[in-house]
Amino acid sequence: MKQTTALITGAASGIGLAVAKRLAETGHDLYLLDRSPNIEAITADLSPNAGKVFTRVADVSKEEEIVAATKDAIEKLGGVAILVNCAGISPKGNGGPVPLEEIKVEDWEYCHRINLVAPFVFCRELIPQMAKAGYGRVVSISSRSARMHVGPASFDYHSSKAGLLGFSRALAGTYAEQGVTVNCVAPGRVDTPLSRTTRPELLEHAKTLIPARRFASPDEIAASVQFLVSPDASYITGSCVDVNGGAYMN
Ligand SMILES: NC(=O)c1ccc[n+]([C@@H]2O[C@H](COP(=O)([O-])OP(=O)(O)OC[C@H]3O[C@@H](n4cnc5c(N)ncnc54)[C@H](O)[C@@H]3O)[C@@H](O)[C@H]2O)c1
Repeated sequence: MKQTTALITGAASGIGLAVAKRLAETGHDLYLLDRSPNIEAITADLSPNAGKVFTRVADVSKEEEIVAATKDAIEKLGGVAILVNCAGISPKGNGGPVPLEEIKVEDWEYCHRINLVAPFVFCRELIPQMAKAGYGRVVSISSRSARMHVGPASFDYHSSKAGLLGFSRALAGTYAEQGVTVNCVAPGRVDTPLSRTTRPELLEHAKTLIPARRFASPDEIAASVQFLVSPDASYITGSCVDVNGGAYMN
């Protein structure tokens, strides 16, 4: 299996797209997945240095669509060495957090289904072939809200992103010996369409709480992902890289 074969979810927009652009630049073979049909046009924006590029329209809230996509990716790329879980949603009520008493169980479950269950299914389908090959890199995009209370984010979002950290640590401890590293990147506020679902005045206030006094660009998050999925990051596993302009320090 080539060490430069990557499946990226949520690759039609924001952070996922920025990761796809960086990995294309460095000649990776890519399998880009999103529920948005825009994913099919993404290849035109990628560097000509890219290796083979495949796109797939799939909804990660549906287990059968993930299973079919991962099988197809393994076949088309000859194995998948890198998995980047970027697809995610941030439920909002009137551009802010949904009040606790208004969250229905099905809303809570849907948020977890996309932000936490889907990464689990991708890992279940892809990590065994990485372990068999003796090499693998998994990076999941968590959030600063997994580390601290973030006012504009909803309860289910906080919970799902914190769950990713625990799941990733368990995988990291289990598969380290087989050469598979599993890490998270926890961005603070990033300038993407997902962020723009928050009310403008909440966004302006959020900026005042960030020591850097600005939001990240998607590419500033992708830079950390690019390092973690590279062979150079071979001894980093079970970690969470905080990329937040100083808004959370540990
Ligand atoms: N933007 C931020 O401030 C921020 C901060 C912390 C963490 N994050 C996380 O980063 C990740 C990427 O977010 P982004 O800001 O780039 O958002 P974005 O909305 O620009 O991109 C998310 C992508 O995920 C896709 N997606 C959503 N639900 C899907 C589904 N069911 N099936 C397939 N694809 C689906 C969307 O179509 C979209 O292309 C998310 O997990 C998000 O929670 C974002």
